Amino acid sequence: MEQRVEQTPERQAFYRKIDGANLSALWNVMGALITPEPRSNCQPFLWSFEAVKAYMLEAGGLITAKEAERRVLVLENPGLRGQSKITTSLYAGIQLVMPHEVAPAHRHSQSALRFVLEGQGAYTAVDGERTILEPGDFVITPSMTWHDHGNQTDEPMMWLDGLDIPLVQFFDASFAEGYEADEQPITRPTGDSYARFGQNLLPVGLTRTSRTSPVFNYPYRKTRDALEHMKALNEWDVCHGLKLRYTNPVSGDYAMPTIGNFIQLLPKGFKTSRYRSTDATVFVPIEGRGRSRIGDQVFEWGPRDVFVAPSWRWITHEADDEAVLFSCSDRPVQEKLDLFREDRGNA
Ligand SMILES: [Fe+2]
Repeated sequence: MEQRVEQTPERQAFYRKIDGANLSALWNVMGALITPEPRSNCQPFLWSFEAVKAYMLEAGGLITAKEAERRVLVLENPGLRGQSKITTSLYAGIQLVMPHEVAPAHRHSQSALRFVLEGQGAYTAVDGERTILEPGDFVITPSMTWHDHGNQTDEPMMWLDGLDIPLVQFFDASFAEGYEADEQPITRPTGDSYARFGQNLLPVGLTRTSRTSPVFNYPYRKTRDALEHMKALNEWDVCHGLKLRYTNPVSGDYAMPTIGNFIQLLPKGFKTSRYRSTDATVFVPIEGRGRSRIGDQVFEWGPRDVFVAPSWRWITHEADDEAVLFSCSDRPVQEKLDLFREDRGNA
């Protein structure tokens, strides 16, 4: 669809004339609008956890969680600076809750995930229930649910926030409000959602309209256990090693309607075959070290680093030790819109 249309004085005069009527000629822009394959400003990049942590702790001395509402450093894609985006469709940040702080209760139409990086024992409260956070836990805040975070421990607590902010922005569908108190009332015991929905059982007569999983904490010890059992079979996907997706037990669909979340194990020394897909992906190694080639760039990673692969760039991973990587993307949205496409190279 690449095209070059000759610019004659008559045509240029015509374009100026129609410009005043809020019109433009498709034949001048069609090649940029409808590209033969994805063309994104999103760039591959890696944020080192240790570097971000140092800045986070500095921020901890500059502003309280209460004043900031959320003390977060936004991971801005170098190709999308100033837009608070890690990919074209997703936002990501690193959040810090210092000992004995509360990040006050609010709610919004944007859905959020937390992937816990460091610290142990702080909580997040969602819809009247608290859950205790441990490294590697995947926690969901569904759209329009009240949520606050608190840290009653003596250690700083840090996690990755992933939100569908750019998607909600695209649809002009943002609503948000603050709660009258710092913390919402707790109406259910810790662990209630997991007991009710996380054990291959569902309450009889369950009627649920939300498309988000009612399990709002997928504890790492359970996830790791599943990987540990499955790795014994030695059945590796050449592109992904051993890769699982977090699911909503009510529907079998992704755990979140707008963000797909995955966990994968790469055995020591494993090198994946090249793979590309239309969903730009954020990766967070939680165990192990290795490197990933994204397009023509190589990124060395270790636990808690965050790196991003844009749409349709070839990716390969290589693990020096047994490695576990969390990842997330807008795949559920692309699949529902018949837009998702993947390419496993020659694999
Ligand atoms: Fe929030």
